[in-house]
Amino acid sequence: MSNIQSLRGMKDIIDDDSKLFTYFIENASKIARNYGFSFISTPILEETALFKRSVGESSDIVNKEMYQFIDKGENDVCLRPEGTAGVVRCFIQNKFDKAGTSKRWYYSGSMFRYERPQKGRLRQFHQFGAESFGQSSVYEDANIIMMIKDIFDFFGIKYKLLLNSLGCSSCMPPYKQTLVCKLEDIKEHLCEDCNKRILTNPIRVLDCKIDNCKELLKDMPKITTNLCDDCNQDFDILKDILTKNNISFEIDSNLVRGLDYYNKTAFEFVSSEIGSQSAMAGGGRYDKLVEFLGGKSTPAVGFAIGIERILELIKVSETQENIYYFGAMTNDAIDKVFKKALEYRKHNKAFVEYSPRSFIKHLNIADKQGANIVALIGEDELKNDTIFVKNLLTKEETIIPFKDF
Ligand code: HAM
Repeated sequence: MSNIQSLRGMKDIIDDDSKLFTYFIENASKIARNYGFSFISTPILEETALFKRSVGESSDIVNKEMYQFIDKGENDVCLRPEGTAGVVRCFIQNKFDKAGTSKRWYYSGSMFRYERPQKGRLRQFHQFGAESFGQSSVYEDANIIMMIKDIFDFFGIKYKLLLNSLGCSSCMPPYKQTLVCKLEDIKEHLCEDCNKRILTNPIRVLDCKIDNCKELLKDMPKITTNLCDDCNQDFDILKDILTKNNISFEIDSNLVRGLDYYNKTAFEFVSSEIGSQSAMAGGGRYDKLVEFLGGKSTPAVGFAIGIERILELIKVSETQENIYYFGAMTNDAIDKVFKKALEYRKHNKAFVEYSPRSFIKHLNIADKQGANIVALIGEDELKNDTIFVKNLLTKEETIIPFKDF
């Protein structure tokens, strides 16, 4: 009988990856808290209707990629394909909309999309995201973008920021009409998906990745030149804030995002170092979603980072917090190393070996336990009141007075 394997597109996170994973979440969370966001956790399983209504019936996520099933109580449920919808549901369910409460939440967790697995594209993947409710100021959009920049800067990740404005309920509908008229003229040359999207959500046509379509779509009217005064003004202010704070960006008027809930600001952080699935993070404003899901109209903006896509850009050596290993090379030194290990444990992870062993044996055990600093006391060190210290990464060896270590 063959052994059971994990499902296609679903991965265990172990060894170096798990170090990187926790290192990322811990530090990204700290940055989010510095920006005034607090932790939220929402269920992985939600009613399918939540995603149909928010992410949108015309999106690939809802159309083709949902892990949807009927549970034992005959409920139509679905593993969450993204985090925003559940957080919005929670905001409304707790009546924060009615109370007019502002909320800033961050989250991390598994998301599920039944996509064709490839490098950077999994069926179960993890996002780190944040959602802000109650702030209509475009400064909050900038705040969100600055937070992602701070996270990427912390980990030394290079990025390009693509920015667009999708307009609002007064400028988007006339733009869509103009676009549809132009698309009708070329539709027989466009792919099948584009043709479907002309009917369901015409702006998604602009996002087509097929070369022939891309070429034909070059001359289509741009949303950025069809914005109303209010959207134009906000977009100009946002660009100005980013420029003043040294964040470079590129305007991409074809950036429409694969989820239907956005209005005004839409953005993506892309990398040229991770292959064809280059989007490391995406987000934007979604001022109509709370109302659309039955709540009281509340402005909102947020983002999500795809954790797997950026893990390969962080080096394991950066995550290394010192892990100490204490050992004695003679029986008489055990009390001394034990005492020192206890001191170190107040602030660090420290192992201590209780039996006297040879130098080489200690190094082997320390290595197996994942320590990078080995501190040993033998006869010479006892006599001189010193401690021998070896850094297993740099291979540097020193003898230090016991009281100074
Ligand atoms: P999204 O662009 O669909 O946005 O996903 C955000 C990020 O998740 C992507 O940029 C990518 O890094 C990662 N990602 C998406 N699909 C996969 C996959 N199959 N495998 C690995 N990584 C993936 C959202 O999900 C929105 N909820 C973001 C948001 C929050 N907008 C407002 N608030």
